[in-house]
Amino acid sequence: MIKSLKFDSDFFKYRIGKIDLGSGYGLMNLAKDLKTFQKSNFDCIYFEVPSKMTLINDYCKKKEFLLACRKIVLIKNTTNKQILQQNIVSSSPRKYISDFPDIAKSILSESRFNKDPRFKKKACKLYELWVKKSLYDNYCQKYFISVKHNKAIGLITLKIRNNNLFIDLFGILPDFRRQGLGKELLNMAESWAWSNRFKQLFVTTANENKIAFKTYISQGYKLYQESFIYHIWRNHEI
Ligand SMILES: CC(C)(COP(=O)(O)OP(=O)(O)OC[C@H]1O[C@@H](n2cnc3c(N)ncnc32)[C@H](O)[C@@H]1OP(=O)(O)O)[C@@H](O)C(=O)NCCC(=O)NCCS
Repeated sequence: MIKSLKFDSDFFKYRIGKIDLGSGYGLMNLAKDLKTFQKSNFDCIYFEVPSKMTLINDYCKKKEFLLACRKIVLIKNTTNKQILQQNIVSSSPRKYISDFPDIAKSILSESRFNKDPRFKKKACKLYELWVKKSLYDNYCQKYFISVKHNKAIGLITLKIRNNNLFIDLFGILPDFRRQGLGKELLNMAESWAWSNRFKQLFVTTANENKIAFKTYISQGYKLYQESFIYHIWRNHEI
């Protein structure tokens, strides 16, 4: 069944839908859903295929569907980290309002929206909105901002999904990378998670984002799940 995605459709100005692949979903189901898509008025559909569903992934590869993201989820068991970071704040984000568009831009590089040519133009705006909603509209449960000389240079946000705590947005401005600031934000996030009784902290990233992957692994995160996200557009031959 194809579910309409209201936010994505309104934002990108395309009719966008999503297929949810539950357990037991097979190639026959996909063929049926793709037929429905062809007859529908959707412009684009997304679907996420766990890496272990090899038949479906092989089929998508053969059909050359746009592989928008090789998604990986990493996990870490949280511990009690006693830390005091004076250059990290968690309030008054409006003070740094002019710094956030650059931070949003620095985070989106490996995003699937940045990879899909039809979404690319608006990907930056999407991330700016995501950062704004997280900081000013309580979209996330908690955020930490890394500050240097009164300028915001990095951000991490935490969000609950299906009762699990996820790192939602995470980035350091390019000029300030490799100075241990990302590690500091990850430590703050973990410490908050532990204090708020989350025994585990999850993060989603793209397999292509080797630097992010190395950063998480260096901090003790382990591979938890892998999946492939495809985008199919109306004019693609099915
Ligand atoms: C991922 C990111 C936040 C890391 O921030 P950072 O401040 O540069 O990271 P740190 O300096 O704290 O590095 C911590 C460890 O991660 C690893 N690491 C970070 N950058 C690395 C790189 N370019 N190459 C190899 N290892 C790297 C290292 O093990 C490093 O420890 P070390 O410096 O003692 O060797 C930053 O690269 C970034 O903003 N990337 C773009 C946005 C992004 O991809 N966000 C993640 C989305 S899921």
